[in-house]
Parts: sequence; C-alpha cells; structure tokens
Amino acid sequence: MDNVLVTGGAGYIGSHACKALRTAGFQPVTFDNLCTGWEDAVKFGPFEKGDLLNRERLDEVFAKYEPIAVMHFAALSQVGESMQEPGRYWLNNVGGSLNLIEASVAAGCKNFVFSSTCATYGEHDNVLLDETIEQHPINAYGSSKRAIEDMLKDFEGAYGLRHVIFRYFNVAGGDPEGEVGEFHRPETHLIPLMLDAIDGKRDALTIFGTDYDTEDGTCIRDYVHVCDLVDAHVLGLKRLLDSHDSGIYNLGTGSGFSVREVISQSRSVTNREVPYNEGPRRPGDCTKLVSGSTLAEKELGWSPKRSTMDLMIADAWKWHQNGNYTK
Ligand code: UFG
Repeated sequence: MDNVLVTGGAGYIGSHACKALRTAGFQPVTFDNLCTGWEDAVKFGPFEKGDLLNRERLDEVFAKYEPIAVMHFAALSQVGESMQEPGRYWLNNVGGSLNLIEASVAAGCKNFVFSSTCATYGEHDNVLLDETIEQHPINAYGSSKRAIEDMLKDFEGAYGLRHVIFRYFNVAGGDPEGEVGEFHRPETHLIPLMLDAIDGKRDALTIFGTDYDTEDGTCIRDYVHVCDLVDAHVLGLKRLLDSHDSGIYNLGTGSGFSVREVISQSRSVTNREVPYNEGPRRPGDCTKLVSGSTLAEKELGWSPKRSTMDLMIADAWKWHQNGNYTK
C-alpha cells in the first residue's frame, strides 16, 4: 500500500482525510504535534509525533515511510486568534510549511495536497468567489495561507513540486459512522458551540455582530461537509498521481447561510432551542464568503453528497452526543 504523509492527521479534517485515504487504498501516516489534535483520532494508519518546525524529525519520517505524496493539514486555523497573535501564525503556518516543503523535495516526494482557505480572498462586495478572484486577506490566518500558496508555486517552478491547493469554505459535520468527529479544545466554531449551548454545556451562543450588511445583519458563510471535503482531497491526489497537473480549487457548495439561519436550522434538526445572545463583531471576520466556482466538480469529478445544512448539523449533533477524545 502506498504511503501518504498526512500532517495534522490527528485533527478534525486530517482524521477524516485519513479515513478516506484508507478507504481508497492508501496508507495514511499521521504526522502531528498534538497541539490541537488527538491521538485517539489516529485510527487508520501509523502515528508519528513531531513538529513541522523540527526539520530533522521530518527527514526521519520521510526516510522511514517514503511517501508518494503529502497532504498538509497541520496549521493554526482560528481567524480571531490570528488577529491577536499573528507571529504564531507566520511562524507555525508559514515557517512550518517551508520546512515540510523543503523536506518533501529533498526526499524526492513531489506530490503535495494543501489545505488553504477562502479566508485568502478577503472582502469582496457581494460577489461569489471563484479561484480567479484577487486575494486580499483581512486576517493573519488568511495571509499565512496565501503565503504558502505562493511558496508552492515557487517550488513548482524550481523543483517540479506538483500541488493541488484546496481553498476551503466553512467545514462542518462529521463521519456518519462516528469513528471521528470535530473536537476542539477550546472550541471556537459556530456549529459545535451552538450544539454545546443546546445541550447546556455552555450558557449561550453569542452571535458575533448583527450589523453586517446582510439581510439579517449576521455574517454569511458557505458550509461544506467534512466527508465531501476529504473526498475531494482523494480525487485531487489521484489527479496528481495520474496527470501530474497542479491545480487550485474552491471547496464550497455555493449556498450561503447567515449565522441566524444556521441557528434556526439547528432548531429544526435537534428539536431544541438554541440559547443565544448578541455581541459585537469579531475582528477579522468577513461579511460574506460564498464560493462561486464549480471547477472541482468539472476537473476532479467531485460531487458533494452530504453538504446540506440539515445533514451537516445532524452528523455533528450525533457526534456531539456520543463522541469525544480524551488524549
Ligand atoms: N460565530 C458566531 N459566534 C461564535 C462563533 C462564530 O457568531 O461563537 C460566527 C462567526 O462570526 C462567523 C461564523 O459564525 O460569521 C462562522 O465562524 P467560525 O468560527 O465557525 O468559522 P470562521 O468563518 O471564522 O472560520 C472558518 C475556519 C477557517 C476558514 C474560514 C473560512 O475556521 O479556517 O472558516 O470562512 F478560513
């Protein structure tokens, strides 16, 4: 079985990617420093604890497994935090990725799948975002991811490192079989926080900003199911292995939901009230981020199957009630 090195394989999206890789006949090798990930989530292949800032450790792991490709998920990924501690984002995300990319090239592994973000686009008034739109990130998280995209292009030019870059919209839901799920400590994301509020694990959800220029005043996001998202990664990997062409793809559904709409949808899925209050805007939040591209469908044959708001909330709710990690 061919090995694929999965950085961040102990995290939310990385662990779902490991399951999808395993199902597709690859062996996922998780490389993770467990700063936000969980060893319990590493279920589908070997685990190598390590930090991307440690080049020697990376070289060791490349030599041990000789992966045919890298899937790079490991990153700090909170928009709000990135505004308060930008240095950590530049060091971990950009510095760590530089180490990883250099180690990969040195080991002769030239297929690279990278998780980028729609946060690289920044504010664009009422436009649906496609891959050709100019990137003007408004938070350090988005800036750090854009820098890594540039790095990949430079390394392709110099060393032939082929890459698929995925710009995620808002990832939600969980494995319907409940083997892995979303579990952040502390939690900052809308849907899990809302579920916490519904079942009393926290007092209430706070809506961050009700004065945005949207119909109901709250931010609009494009939510995509984590299982659909990782399916796209397997398709992207196969494209790299078969055709060797690099590419950049949005991963979103093209449907925008406001924070209030997500709250009202979760009432109908869970049959429970969402206790919430209204607070000020969170620095770094864009008004609206919705994908306007079907390139992943056209070029990769991607077809999202679970990315309806009801299913995403239902899968997250199932995991929320039964699943967690302890170490
Ligand atoms: N929100 C609240 N209250 C909360 C948490 C979030 O109102 O307690 C709002 C946010 O202001 C935002 C929306 O819910 O409008 C979604 O917020 P999340 O924190 O769930 O997600 P973000 O949009 O901030 O960020 C996520 C990922 C990023 C990615 C981004 C792209 O964490 O990695 O989606 O939009 F870049």
